[in-house]
Amino acid sequence: MKKGFVFDLDGVIADTAKFHYLAWKELASSIDITLDEVFNEELKGISRMDSLEKILAFGGKDKEYSITEKECLATQKNERYVALLSNVTQQDVLPGVLSFLEQARQANIPCAIASASKNAPYILDKLRVDDYFVHIVNPDTLKKGKPDPEIFIKAAKAIQVLPCEAVGFEDAQAGVDGLKKAGFYTVGIVKNQPLVGADLLVRQLDEINFSKLIN
Ligand code: G6P
Ligand code: MG
Repeated sequence: MKKGFVFDLDGVIADTAKFHYLAWKELASSIDITLDEVFNEELKGISRMDSLEKILAFGGKDKEYSITEKECLATQKNERYVALLSNVTQQDVLPGVLSFLEQARQANIPCAIASASKNAPYILDKLRVDDYFVHIVNPDTLKKGKPDPEIFIKAAKAIQVLPCEAVGFEDAQAGVDGLKKAGFYTVGIVKNQPLVGADLLVRQLDEINFSKLIN
């Protein structure tokens, strides 16, 4: 019997992953690095600064910037990302998510958000889904990011369930790996990307048989 749900945000609750990609692509291009969708998969689930480090290494420029310059680049990317989010509304919630969250509410199953994004509270508010979540893990409290299981273990604790009693939902390989290490039943949300190791793969949440999932 499953008693709690833990969701990633970008690419699971809303299609904001495309805005992260666009903002990083523009930032990278401004420093003569060309990103592509294959490399972008490696950025999913990874914190802002770690993503920047990966991009600089990818472009062979990891030794060229000071810490202050890197912080400035990360801020530029975030400003562009937040600007891209300005028109986000409940219409941008991915198909099947609202009805799935409503079923969780009816079944008294607590839901938490485990996202590396510092913008998560702002996005959930814009999507008008914040009321469905009893807890959002604050990424500033983490020692390690995904694929470390820490964020998922914290989320399970916050909703007072054991990882083996919880279901986690992820679209990133780093997230799937972290959920499996934490001991969750793992649902992978696939679009066109490969995702290895999930217990169940779906394209959207309305493909899931809710009572089969929790029983
Ligand atoms: C999520 C996304 C990543 C993003 C990270 C940090 O994990 O999948 O692509 O880099 O959050 O987001 P932030 O909004 O704090 O820059
Ligand atoms: Mg994601």
